[in-house]
Amino acid sequence: MLGESAVWRPDKPTPTSDQVLADPRYALYLVGWPRQGDYGLVAEQDGPVGAAWYRTFTEASHGYGFVGEDVPELAIAVIASRRHEGIGRRLLIDLIDASVGQGYPALSLSVAEQNPARGLYESVGFVSVEKQGSSWTMVRHAARSN
Ligand SMILES: CC(C)(COP(=O)(O)OP(=O)(O)OC[C@H]1O[C@@H](n2cnc3c(N)ncnc32)[C@H](O)[C@@H]1OP(=O)(O)O)[C@@H](O)C(=O)NCCC(=O)NCCS
Repeated sequence: MLGESAVWRPDKPTPTSDQVLADPRYALYLVGWPRQGDYGLVAEQDGPVGAAWYRTFTEASHGYGFVGEDVPELAIAVIASRRHEGIGRRLLIDLIDASVGQGYPALSLSVAEQNPARGLYESVGFVSVEKQGSSWTMVRHAARSN
């Protein structure tokens, strides 16, 4: 799922677990799981079809979507053959609910500017706050009403 989350362009091959875990840009979202505060959901139907998870980072060690030590950053993927069925939206909504339940003030993420998933994130309340290279950092505050 980390490999699936790393590549959004349908024409690009999904990296293997070993490849993605060898790349520190991606490994930091999963290495040492579960750390305190880590939370994730897996969608299953005859095996895993999608996953969404979050973890907090520090000023000293974080990825692109970092906005603060008290704001977890999420990662999400649905296997290519099961996209556009609503699985990602459901995972996102349940993950947001979990973060609110755990008392986090917000969630953040990093998404490539061209990735159509931006529309999905906006539809559940994320707003773009900062552009880093060709990616947007998006944040969803827990206090919003939807
Ligand atoms: C992003 C992702 C998790 C969404 O999961 P999903 O199960 O397909 O999402 P849903 O079916 O709930 O919602 C789909 C909506 O997301 C948006 N969307 C996301 N990816 C899209 C794509 N490649 N093309 C078109 N729309 C896309 C659209 O608004 C779409 O609505 P539609 O199906 O009515 O057109 C999935 O597309 C994925 O794994 N993509 C590859 C990895 C990735 O980009 N991860 C996020 C990195 S920030």
